[in-house]
Amino acid sequence: MEQDTSLCEECTSLDRKEIKSLCDKRKPSDGLAVRCVHGQSAKKLEALKKYLEIFCIAMKSKFRNRIFLDLFSGPGLCYDRNNRIFLNGSSLITLGLSNPFTKHIFVDSDPTTLNILRLRCGKSNPILLSSIEFMNVDSNSHIDEILSKIPKRHSISVVFVDPNGLDIHFETIRKLSAFPSSMDIIIHFSVFDLKRNLGNYKSGNEKADKFFGCHNWPRNSDEWLPFYRKQLANIGFSGIEGDNELIISIKTSTDAPIYHLIYASKHLRGLEFWRKVKKSIELPDLFPY
Ligand SMILES: C[S@@+](CC[C@H](N)C(=O)[O-])C[C@H]1O[C@@H](n2cnc3c(N)ncnc32)[C@H](O)[C@@H]1O
Repeated sequence: MEQDTSLCEECTSLDRKEIKSLCDKRKPSDGLAVRCVHGQSAKKLEALKKYLEIFCIAMKSKFRNRIFLDLFSGPGLCYDRNNRIFLNGSSLITLGLSNPFTKHIFVDSDPTTLNILRLRCGKSNPILLSSIEFMNVDSNSHIDEILSKIPKRHSISVVFVDPNGLDIHFETIRKLSAFPSSMDIIIHFSVFDLKRNLGNYKSGNEKADKFFGCHNWPRNSDEWLPFYRKQLANIGFSGIEGDNELIISIKTSTDAPIYHLIYASKHLRGLEFWRKVKKSIELPDLFPY
């Protein structure tokens, strides 16, 4: 983990919005821009890494084609502005696994971000470069094209869905579910974005409709997650978490959830892996990894 001892100029959230969180002031050793993140993001990245490690070891001898699909890739490296350290983002995490996937598909709709990622992967993992497909497209509108890159038979995939808010359409999740070979999905469920816009969403909002996959989603925030899980079950995911289960939540300093990480698979084995990861993240003293 690279440390950054120089002083951060601490931009505002508005500044970060303008630069799409891509900071070129915090320079890691590769000299490329990084994604500025809150300290809590480390928890999300740690959970992903642990899941992928378990998954890759278990599936190595079972499937010839093992694919990691990162639908919202980012630039590969993050700067944790609270702890002043650089952290590998989802795509670099997957390239660093000791039993790597056989194919990686990295998607980002922002051309600058994807170009940084491409350069970064070339510098950090030249050996795996030929296994990576970079796609500068919108993950929702181009999901058919993205899925056409994955073998329909003898393959298993992990899909990481990590948008900035509600930018994942349920129709896209439906298409992942309908794909003939197995897909395990980890989804960033943005409580913050739903709450922030609750006024608009209550009176009808296209963004929330697309996120939930319908118009009649509950207006009571306590019901959002159970409702979303029911939607996942309705499209064929049986390996989903129960409503009273431990959940990985990324929270503000006042303990309010910003987003949850939720899991969906068609196989109970994957859910068992995820449960193990959740315990090691949320109850680290009781369940050392
Ligand atoms: C939260 S960041 C991803 C962070 C990354 N997973 C990591 O671990 O560092 C979201 C990324 O999704 C991209 N993005 C936003 N909307 C998108 C869309 N509809 N399709 C594909 N990428 C999108 C943004 O450009 C941004 O880089």
